Amino acid sequence: MNTSVLFITILALFLLADCSELPFQERMLLKALGLNGRPRPVAPGPVPKALWKIFEQGINSENPCRMEGFQVPGNIVRSYKDQGPLMSSEIPHGSLCFRKYLFFDLSVVEKKEEVTLGQLEIKFKHNTYQGHVFQLQLYHPLHMSLKGMRDHSMNRKLLFAQSFRLLHKSLYFNLTKVAQDWAKAENNMGLVLEILADVDTSRTNHFSSSCEQIDFFIHTSFLTVSLDPTSCKASRTKRSAESSLPTPSNICSKRRLYIDFKDVGWQNWVIAPRGYMANYCHGECPYPLTEMLKGTNHAVLQTLVHSIEPEITPLPCCAPTKLSPISMLYYDNNDNVVLRHYEDMVVDECGCK
Ligand SMILES: *[C@@H]1O[C@H](CO)[C@@H](O)[C@H](O)[C@H]1NC(C)=O
Repeated sequence: MNTSVLFITILALFLLADCSELPFQERMLLKALGLNGRPRPVAPGPVPKALWKIFEQGINSENPCRMEGFQVPGNIVRSYKDQGPLMSSEIPHGSLCFRKYLFFDLSVVEKKEEVTLGQLEIKFKHNTYQGHVFQLQLYHPLHMSLKGMRDHSMNRKLLFAQSFRLLHKSLYFNLTKVAQDWAKAENNMGLVLEILADVDTSRTNHFSSSCEQIDFFIHTSFLTVSLDPTSCKASRTKRSAESSLPTPSNICSKRRLYIDFKDVGWQNWVIAPRGYMANYCHGECPYPLTEMLKGTNHAVLQTLVHSIEPEITPLPCCAPTKLSPISMLYYDNNDNVVLRHYEDMVVDECGCK
């Protein structure tokens, strides 16, 4: 039995179980979802548009281990909140308007995951466009002590420098390499963002007035795409059209099972979907196996042997023969938003195995 079939089975048990058994069942369930415990978000923020978009697009069943929107391999997208302080004591001097220390906690990325994309988004809240041009500089600190936060001009590497005008628009930076280092959880010293009034377009004594415009206008967030190879299978079978043949009630078939996350007490951390049609398989696999029961060759043989020696050989089991993936959007313990593709979450067809 693979993890997701296990997931559905446990979920069904979980819904039927006594209250006393919930902790264990839930632990198993969370484990099937790649989680060590039930996440407890404290101050969750809004869901980034990019993640809603991927969620709404759904999964390409042919290739659930690729994030089409970003054109990279992956089955997990995380959006991290910035936890770095604003270094406001230093502003403004010279042409420097603003300096902010950015910190994103990527320690939630597991060792087995391969980070395939790291992207920083800098979003401007106001759009008082008056034609002022600013310089944006993004640095990677090389050494940093608590004291050194104030003066790190010697120990930093410039990653990006670009001019921009104040527009109601986001700037994106490809920080894949940096994210891969951070995910190793060794050397995450964050980033330093500086915004300067552009010397070419501002007259010397107008620095501060153009700086005022960008005051505390900024929202930064970081996004990673990663691939957990342990939940990716090499090839997929197509979801086939559902059979509309009526099945006698005691014969192996797909049964409808809607799982509402509220019933499991997960509504606080699962953002979407609210629930889903997981289904399950139930019924007998009698001799002789008919075409309708989609028995494997082995199952056909097994029923044959069972008809001869019923004490020694059991009948085959009614089990999923086709499954499809779903996406889940949820908050983790750090209030990050996570979108994850899970394979084999929905039972599409059952048969005798
Ligand atoms: C981002 O950077 C990585 C290397 O650091 C590169 O392989 C990748 O193609 C870049 N992605 C985009 C969209 O430019």
